[in-house]
Amino acid sequence: MIERLAIEGYRSIRSLVVDLAPLTVVTGPNGSGKSSLYRALRLLADCGEGRVIASLAAVGGLEAVRWAGPEHGTRRGQATEGTVRRGPVALRLGVATDALGYAIDLGIPVAQRSAFDRDPEIKQEHVFAGALPRPGGVLIERKRGVARASTDAGWMELSRGMHPWASVLDELAGHAEAAELAGARRMLRGWRFHDALRTDATAPARQPQVATRAARLDDDGANLAAVLQTAIEMGWERELERAIDDAFPGSRLRLPVVDGRMQVALEQPGMLRPLAAPELSDGTLQYLLLTAAMLSAEKPGLIVLNEPERSLHADLVPALAARIRDAAAATQVVVVTHQATLAEALGGARIELEKRGGETVVAGREGLLDQPAWHWPTR
Ligand SMILES: Nc1ncnc2c1ncn2[C@@H]1O[C@H](COP(=O)(O)OP(=O)(O)OP(=O)(O)O)[C@@H](O)[C@H]1O
Ligand SMILES: [Mg+2]
Repeated sequence: MIERLAIEGYRSIRSLVVDLAPLTVVTGPNGSGKSSLYRALRLLADCGEGRVIASLAAVGGLEAVRWAGPEHGTRRGQATEGTVRRGPVALRLGVATDALGYAIDLGIPVAQRSAFDRDPEIKQEHVFAGALPRPGGVLIERKRGVARASTDAGWMELSRGMHPWASVLDELAGHAEAAELAGARRMLRGWRFHDALRTDATAPARQPQVATRAARLDDDGANLAAVLQTAIEMGWERELERAIDDAFPGSRLRLPVVDGRMQVALEQPGMLRPLAAPELSDGTLQYLLLTAAMLSAEKPGLIVLNEPERSLHADLVPALAARIRDAAAATQVVVVTHQATLAEALGGARIELEKRGGETVVAGREGLLDQPAWHWPTR
């Protein structure tokens, strides 16, 4: 389970450390930084896939996403120092379970002419034991081009001359002396994000789809029927029936297969025939998609939902909350929402964000001393 998340220098987040529970609800008013936190989690997941540099370049590079305020924050909206930055430009992301953690420090490239000017550089990476990146707990350390592992006999060099765009997670995860790298990569690769589920008129989930087992919902929800059928065949039929009945009392889900293609359909009280996927309302489809994400046969390490209540009528919110709570019994879940009723219905641990002097902070925290501990290795 992810216990602690640390973000520094990203969008409205100058410095934020939060603890995550089995179910964590991130709320706050518009502009408080919920999406910044969500995107920071996505960037961490990108580190596990070897594409963090590409993701940052795609949004305009580090200059476009780094904290635009003063290094040491503002007091009542006034910068507490000159506008000249003394420290290096750094975007730092860190995550830790109780056993293993990973931290990455990204910066701007040292001046050299290249067509890829927007690509940031990986300055440092650390894999550490325990929930905090304490100097004594460092298992793998990468500083610029040099990566080394801590062994009983002292430091052992793993690589020299690593490219500034290559992560140790990608390059060295297969290294015999660095099993922890594979562990950290597995942790990050086990996260699922559902923010691109489509419910519009031409949504893939409304089309017939190939009937093949699916343990995991596609990003756009294209294999909805197959994921639901797979869940049924793996013994989750009762949970699925309950999910449908909670939201649409008296209705029954149908997953007809015709010529090797399948589709979702909903038998509703008073209708002479089941309504097929193209006929379902956006909200109904959104609920089915989220139900599929929560019941999918593959249980990821972490599910992150960004505003799952989108296009759902308030009546469906308690049923959605029940699905998420059920999922949180087996999988860690983070829900980012600005809807108070969903946050209430979910319970779980609450992280309430607010903006103070342009900076995202956790409501009620007075200063950095109120934050859970985190230690960034110095450059
Ligand atoms: N580089 C940056 N430096 C400082 N602040 C930034 C930067 N980029 C964006 N912001 C500000 O960060 C704030 C938080 O944005 P974010 O999208 O995370 O808010 P949100 O809580 O998701 O709001 P909403 O509920 O409207 O979606 C915005 O007010 C935005 O102007
Ligand atoms: Mg947002």
